[in-house]
Amino acid sequence: MEFDSVIKKRKSVRSFKNKKASWKDVLEAIDSANQGPFANSNNNLKFIIIEEPDTINKLADECDQLWMNKAGMLVVVTSEDKHLEKMFGERGRIYSRQQAGAAISTFLLKIIDMGLASCWVGSYDDHEIRRLLKIPEDRLIEAILPIGYEKDKIEKKKKKSLESTIFWEKWDCTKRPEFFEEQKDYYSVR
Ligand SMILES: Cc1cc2nc3c(=O)[nH]c(=O)nc-3n(C[C@H](O)[C@H](O)[C@H](O)COP(=O)(O)O)c2cc1C
Repeated sequence: MEFDSVIKKRKSVRSFKNKKASWKDVLEAIDSANQGPFANSNNNLKFIIIEEPDTINKLADECDQLWMNKAGMLVVVTSEDKHLEKMFGERGRIYSRQQAGAAISTFLLKIIDMGLASCWVGSYDDHEIRRLLKIPEDRLIEAILPIGYEKDKIEKKKKKSLESTIFWEKWDCTKRPEFFEEQKDYYSVR
């Protein structure tokens, strides 16, 4: 799929057809997530792929989001902060969250590219998920990603306008400086 079209098509899907995604596609999406970026090239992520229907049901229960049990597959994204903290101090913890987010985002885009659907799930009881999947105490659960084929087609949510997210040169300056005048109508050039 064309890159722009993948970005435009990405949306959170919470209703899935009774057709399981291929585990090979899921591996491909994880491989894309692993392309980074990662601070100091330190990829501190591990992905747990879950196909067992019983485990999927239990996870949906723990998340209190029953729609998840219609996904034929879940990926649980975990990270550990130790090594990044050793390298970068307190900032290492921030880097860890940031690079997990970047990887999850790449994963979600690749899923769209392959004609699949997913949703970033971040609301769950960490303790219960950890216990169920035997995740070591030193790892953080960054997200759970249910994967399947979209069933009831939903509209993509409206996003913020480009201009409402941009300042020019300094905080709070909403206009592009006049000396760059060759592009006055800058928000419609795209
Ligand atoms: C950190 C994070 C946590 C989220 N947690 C959940 C969640 O627990 N359950 C859920 O249904 N959606 C969750 N979402 C998805 C958002 O609700 C969704 O991205 C938002 O409504 C915008 O819709 P869109 O993804 O279709 O553009 C989460 C998204 C992020 C980034």
